[in-house]
Amino acid sequence: MRFVLAAALLAGLGSAQAADVLRGADLYQRHCANCHGGSGRPVMPTAPDFARPGVLFKPDPVLLEAIRSGRGAMPAYQGVLRDREILDIVSHLRTMR
Ligand code: HEC
Repeated sequence: MRFVLAAALLAGLGSAQAADVLRGADLYQRHCANCHGGSGRPVMPTAPDFARPGVLFKPDPVLLEAIRSGRGAMPAYQGVLRDREILDIVSHLRTMR
């Protein structure tokens, strides 16, 4: 009984809070792949290689902020993507190693 309750709780939390990696992958292909490449190997020479170890060795909120406000040649995504969507993309980036 206790287990069922815990599982139900987890499922509820999951739908409310866990990042949606599939939606992140879709958004990534539409908004980011032009420069960062479909698999995270950069098309634009100054873009970081997400497949290289260490490049994403930053906490989610730091990456969120970088994507929100833009970096170098990368445009700012505040107002274009919601934070929730950016965090979904970040969880997709973390599958690229
Ligand atoms: C116009 C090309 C371009 C697009 C589009 C683009 N980026 Fe970037 N991105 C760059 C470049 C160039 C850098 C390196 C910036 C620098 O440090 O000078 C970068 C850096 C980054 C970094 C590293 C930031 C850090 O602080 O280490 C992340 C994460 C990132 N991009 C994610 C994304 C995501 C997610 C998207 C789509 C929502 C995206 N980028 C769209 C060009 C782009």
